[in-house]
Amino acid sequence: MNSKFEKNGYLILKNLIPQDLADYCTAVAFELIRDGRYVYAGVPPHEHSRTWNVGGHSCTCHFGVNPFYMLLYSLTPKISEILEQEIVPTYCYQRTYLRGSLMAYHTDRASSQYALTMNLGQSHKWPISIVNRSTGKHDQFQGNPGDAMLYMGTALEHHRNNYEGDWYTQLMMMWVNKEGYIGPPFDNELCEEHHYDKKVHEEAQTPEEAKNSYLTNWKDILYRDNISNVAPFPLALESDLWHSSQATKHGQVPRWGVVKGKNFNPIVKKLKDDEPHEV
Ligand SMILES: [Fe+2]
Repeated sequence: MNSKFEKNGYLILKNLIPQDLADYCTAVAFELIRDGRYVYAGVPPHEHSRTWNVGGHSCTCHFGVNPFYMLLYSLTPKISEILEQEIVPTYCYQRTYLRGSLMAYHTDRASSQYALTMNLGQSHKWPISIVNRSTGKHDQFQGNPGDAMLYMGTALEHHRNNYEGDWYTQLMMMWVNKEGYIGPPFDNELCEEHHYDKKVHEEAQTPEEAKNSYLTNWKDILYRDNISNVAPFPLALESDLWHSSQATKHGQVPRWGVVKGKNFNPIVKKLKDDEPHEV
């Protein structure tokens, strides 16, 4: 295991993702909130009052409609390399905190053996405190968008004080070891049982289940509404240009009105024979 992580119980990962990606994630989060895809965690005494959530236990929409799993899966090899451990994803959720929200002093559930909290955007700063494994003292970390803290989620207490800014957009990603036990305080919990968070959310899909699902349902999904009864474009299919071995310039691929010698698009008024046209 990474020696610094083992000693302090956490690592700071500056620029884990590019700022542009963090900005885009915040834009996605806000659009999903606007479109009603997020759950508002409500009013106190709800544990996560004054937050918008996707994918967490505060939210009914679990795996499958949470776009941030793309980041969880794509970052897994990098986090595995940093930790020097073979790890498997468990779950992730994205939460946007509003003025007045807080994060009580706590440790994470068993599926969070390795937890990562990454800032995606913020109107004002909001440091997180974590108990340093070697000193026992509270260390503070304030990240910029794209910066993350990787920590022992089940073992180390962490918290945030009352937020006085307008909004703070954060992504949490979790992993467990491929084999072995979670460790204190979950000494008897097998890591394997927590892979992809199946132990907590039976409906959660493993990557294999997700793949089987689309392989089983592709026809109903892609060819719904009798799309398969709509004829393809016959002239395009017949054209020489469509089958030409000569590369076409951008904008000259056969589209409406650009098929060789076939004036089938009434919008294109001056088609010369034997010459492709841009529309
Ligand atoms: Fe936590």
